[in-house]
Amino acid sequence: MQSTSLHVAIIMDGNGRWARSRGLPRTAGHRAGVDAVRRVVEAAPGLGIRILTLYTFSSDNWQRPRAEVNTLFQLFQEHLANELPRLRENGVRLTVIGRRDRFPLPLRSAVAAAERLTARCARLDLRLAMDYSSRDQILRAATLARGGLLGRERFAALLGHAGHGHGPSPDVDLLIRTGGEQRLSDFLLWECAYAELVFTEVPWPDFGPEHLAQAVAEFQRRERRFGRVEERTS
Ligand code: IPE
Ligand code: IPE
Ligand code: MG
Repeated sequence: MQSTSLHVAIIMDGNGRWARSRGLPRTAGHRAGVDAVRRVVEAAPGLGIRILTLYTFSSDNWQRPRAEVNTLFQLFQEHLANELPRLRENGVRLTVIGRRDRFPLPLRSAVAAAERLTARCARLDLRLAMDYSSRDQILRAATLARGGLLGRERFAALLGHAGHGHGPSPDVDLLIRTGGEQRLSDFLLWECAYAELVFTEVPWPDFGPEHLAQAVAEFQRRERRFGRVEERTS
C-alpha cells in the first residue's frame, strides 16, 4: 500500500564533481543544485511525501575554501528570496534546522521571514538542514535533558528544540544520498534509526522527479520489520 505521509531526507551530494567533470568551477555545481531543489520540492507531495529534509550545509562544510562558503551562502539567500512566492503558492512550509547563529545576518533575517510567511502552509514540510551537525544536536538535546531519564518521544522533542525545528524531530522513512558516496556524514543520526537507505550515483544537479519517484518505489518494495518477526499462521 502506498503511504502518503513519508518523511524523506536527502543528502544532496556531488555538486562539485558534477561541475568539475564539465570543466566548470565547483560553484557552478552548487548553482545547478538549486534547480534540482526546486524540481524535487515540486514533485514531492505528488509522491506521498509529507516531510522533506534536505542536507544543505553541514557544520563541517565551514572547513571548505572561504570563496566556496561565501558563494553557498549567497545562493541560499537568493534562493529563499526567489522561491518564497512559489513555496507559498504550493503550500510548502519552510523551516531551517541547524545552528543559524553563525549565518550572515541578512540570511538569518531572510530565514526568519520565510519561516513566518510559510508557517500556515500544510501540503509539504520542507526542512533545510543548514550549519547542521546531528552529533552536535544530540549533544545539545542531552544537555537540555540535564541528566533526567527521558523516553524516546520526550528526547525527540528535545532534539527538535535543540535543532531549532518546529516540534519533535521526526523519524526518517527514506534516506537518499546522491553522488555515489555511501555514508551519513553526520546527518539525522537519531532520526534514521530505521530509515531505508537508497544510494544513487546520480549527482545532485542531475537529480529530478524521476529519480525521486524511483527511490520512493524502491522504498515501497522494502519490507520494514523494525526488529520484529511476523507471526504466520499456516
Ligand atoms: C554537496 O555537493 C553540496 C554541499 C556539500 C554544500 P559537494 O559540494 O559536496 O560536491 P562533491 O561531493 O564535492 O562533488
Ligand atoms: C554532506 O556532504 C553535506 C551536504 C550534502 C550538505 P559532504 O560532501 O560535505 O560530505 P563528505 O565530506 O563527503 O562526507
Ligand atoms: Mg560532497
